[in-house]
This record gives sequence, structure tokens and C-alpha cells, in this order.
Amino acid sequence: MTEAVENTGAHGQEPSRRDFIYIATGGALAVGGAFTIWPFIDQMNPAADTLALASTEVNIAELEEGQEITVIYRERPHFVRRRTAAEVEAARDVNIAALPDRDARNFNLGDGAPATDENRSAMTAEIAEGVEIEDALRASLLVTSANCTHLGCVPTEGAGDYGAWFCPCHGSHYDTSGRIRRGPAPENLSVPVMTFTSASVLRLG
Ligand code: FES
Repeated sequence: MTEAVENTGAHGQEPSRRDFIYIATGGALAVGGAFTIWPFIDQMNPAADTLALASTEVNIAELEEGQEITVIYRERPHFVRRRTAAEVEAARDVNIAALPDRDARNFNLGDGAPATDENRSAMTAEIAEGVEIEDALRASLLVTSANCTHLGCVPTEGAGDYGAWFCPCHGSHYDTSGRIRRGPAPENLSVPVMTFTSASVLRLG
């Protein structure tokens, strides 16, 4: 089944037709306001074995540089951003030792991987056999949980001291790699398991 997920729009602009990115998924839903607190209601969650099978496919072919969409993966919102060269450069130009959380928090890597931008980007995604995809595109793509690691609010895009994501609930600032830089959030936004199943499709899960 193919459904449209509304682009949150760069810098709060109204979405236009071309801003709709189509993703093929059985569970994707449009995600609304950036100030939504994601409900954590455990008893409404599906069984663990159902969750284990869940995956979401994202069509990255129509994602333009500087554009971001929000998709649902395993019943949680996730940001999918194709970063600009300047955003990637800013993310790489960081002293890892000075970060509040030095762990990449990337499910594609083991625990303890350093929080470099390369370890956070889609450079860590698997590539299906026979698929060819440019390194520059892989490096530009960042996929993270859209739930602040403090208490789960959805951070606002293009805001905060690092021009990336700002959580308005209690003031956490994330950088262009989704790493916590300031505020009460204890961890970087987590990166899900990802696979490029074709040159235009990135599967989460
Ligand atoms: S929920 Fe984001 S700072 Fe508290």
C-alpha cells in the first residue's frame, strides 16, 4: 500500500504538492504538529513479535536537499532528513569528546560506537546486493527517532542553537546530526536499523 506522508516543510512553510513524499508502508501515518507529545501507552502497543516484523520504506528519490519528512516506524515518529552540505559539514566539525552523549546511539552499530556524524548518518545503513548509491547521498541522509530523549516530545525542525531541532517542552537543543548539545535530554536521538533496498528506497527495520 502506498500512502503519502506530509512533508513538515523546511522552516515551517506550507507544504505544496511537490513536498509530498510517497512511501510504501502498511503503517505510515501523517504526523502533525511539532509540539505533540507522543503517547506512551504500553497497553496499546502491539505484541513484541508484531513489532519485530514491522518496517517502513521511505522513497528518498523525491527528498530534496534540505528537506525533511516524518514517517512512522514501529508506531513512533522518525525524522528523515536529506541534509545540506553545510549541515553535514557542521555535524562533522564537532569535538566528540565535548558532547554530552558520546555514543552514536545507532542500532546499525554496536554499543559504544563514537558519536561521529558518519556513525549517525545513513553511511551506516546496509546496502542490498546489487544496489548502487552515491556516498554523498548516504552521508547527507539522517534518520532519527523524533521523540526527545528527555520525556518524549517531538522537537521542532530548524530551530535551537544549532539550527537543527529544538525541543520546546523543556529546552533541549539537538545539532544537525541529531546529537543532544544542550538541555535536559540525556541522549542523542536514536538511529534505527536501515537498509537501502534500491537506489531510491531506504527501509527502516
Ligand atoms: S521532552 Fe524534550 S526537553 Fe523535555
